[in-house]
Formats: sequence, C-alpha cells, structure tokens
Amino acid sequence: MKILMVCLGNICRSPLAEGVMQHLADKNGLNWTVDSAGTGNWHVGEAPDHRSIRTALNRGVDISKQVCKQFTVNDFDEFDLIMVMDKFNLRDVLAKARNQADRDKVRLLLGNAEVPDPYYDDSKFETVYDMVEQGCRDIIKEFTGIELKK
Ligand code: 4NP
Repeated sequence: MKILMVCLGNICRSPLAEGVMQHLADKNGLNWTVDSAGTGNWHVGEAPDHRSIRTALNRGVDISKQVCKQFTVNDFDEFDLIMVMDKFNLRDVLAKARNQADRDKVRLLLGNAEVPDPYYDDSKFETVYDMVEQGCRDIIKEFTGIELKK
C-alpha cells in the first residue's frame, strides 16, 4: 500500500506522520510506502521543521532526510490513500480531485478530528506527535487487523 500524508506546509505535521507510519509499518513487516506533501509551496525543497525533527528523534524516528514537496494532482494516481491533517487540507486536496475515485482516496488521519497546526506554538509538537502516532496505529489496525503494542 502507498500512503501520502498531507498538511499545509509539509514541514511540521505530515513529515511526522510520514516518519511514524513508515517506522511502524517497517517494524511490523508491512510492505507499505509512505510519503508526504503540503498543499502550500512555501517550504518546497526544505528539510522538516527542526522542532518536528527533534520531537521525532526523541521517540526514535529520524525524519531529518525528508524533503518538502507540494501536493499535485498526480498524487491521486501515485497513492492508494491520502491522509490529511485538518479540514483545510481536506478541502484543498479535494478541490484537486478529478473524479469520485480520487475523492475516495482522501480522508482525515484522525477520522473526524483534526491534527492542530503546531507551527506557531512550540509546546504543541509533543501532542501532535502523540495524535499522529495514534492515527497511524488506528490505520494499521483498520487495514491489517494488527493491534500494535505500546
Ligand atoms: P504544517 O505547519 O502544515 O504542519 O507543515 C505549517 C508550516 C508552515 C506554515 C504553515 C503551517 N507556513 O505558513 O509557512
């Protein structure tokens, strides 16, 4: 399965989601490929935000080699599942969908809840990490039936 994680800037939330999901998939023998993108283009070519890099490293996940890119319509062909962090991302990604098959690939990582944007609040990164990790665990459970241990 190929999964794309999407947020606004692709430097804070979706890099964490990419890193955590790939880490959990690899650790559990799942042949999944995970990538991430932003709906905006401000940070294209950059590494993730240093606060996301540090938060992930503290939990044993290295996201420092990721490179920011912008979401494009081709991603609907490239990926099986497109997971967005909040309702703005949902709106922006759905606006690029060409048909129902595209739309069916898109959903919020947390079901109905949103992963808040931590960009302007250093204290939010730990919470965001925990939310993203729970979302990834739930996705693995849904698609494989595997309930991961803490
Ligand atoms: P992200 O956070 O969507 O989680 O990557 C943001 C990063 C940068 C900006 C906005 C949100 N920005 O406006 O530059």
